[in-house]
Amino acid sequence: MSGSVITIASLKGGSGKTTLATCLAVHWHLKWRNPLLIDADPQRSIIRLAERERALGGIDLIEQADKSVWETIKQRSPSYGVTIVDTPGFDSDITVAALAVADLVLIPVKASPLDVDRMMDTVKTLMSGMKGWTPAFRCVLTQTTRGSVISRHIRAELEDGGFPLLATDMPNRVAYAEAGLYGATPTQIAPDGPAARDIADIATEAEVLLSTRNARKAVGA
Ligand SMILES: Nc1ncnc2c1ncn2[C@@H]1O[C@H](COP(=O)(O)OP(=O)(O)OP(=O)(O)O)[C@@H](O)[C@H]1O
Ligand SMILES: [Mg+2]
Repeated sequence: MSGSVITIASLKGGSGKTTLATCLAVHWHLKWRNPLLIDADPQRSIIRLAERERALGGIDLIEQADKSVWETIKQRSPSYGVTIVDTPGFDSDITVAALAVADLVLIPVKASPLDVDRMMDTVKTLMSGMKGWTPAFRCVLTQTTRGSVISRHIRAELEDGGFPLLATDMPNRVAYAEAGLYGATPTQIAPDGPAARDIADIATEAEVLLSTRNARKAVGA
């Protein structure tokens, strides 16, 4: 997946973009995969998290919350194993710019009908902003309650609607906020804990998607 770009996007605020971006980046950092994390959200959530004690493990981090972020991504990503871009939770040309250079787009979506409707807006924006270049995209169900009827229902509804989902959810776990108090992710605090395992499974799914895509690019398909 070397040089690959993952953009985390959703027009719905609070869906879990920053949490997913930081957790994936720190996971790959601790696996020596040489990730770069870009905070393209003017709220500066990642930058502020990294100012806390554990500094997200000292990961390489860039702040660029304007639409020229695509140039930064193009320039910097070839030197990294993977670049992860966190975007604002509202309709913005920053998000469109970060989508335009992504290999994989991950769209976190909470398991509720209101959130699903906004997620569909995200996908429409994504597709209308693209000219010739279509990244792979997957939704990720977040803040789910394990085994709940609503999670199963939303998963089935998305799959029926042609919105592909990662097999792994990000269930509701207090470990994310607790780790955040120290500027860390659960992988730094409890590497064998359940939240770290969820993130590892999501990372493995992303790696498979990126390697399939790179193989296609290599043969010009
Ligand atoms: N799987 C989860 N379990 C428990 N809490 C979670 C989970 N995912 C996210 N949260 C919490 O939900 C809140 C919103 O998450 P986050 O900041 O990652 O969303 P966001 O999409 O980046 O928001 P914004 O659109 O404002 O940038 C945070 O308090 C975070 O700790
Ligand atoms: Mg955020």
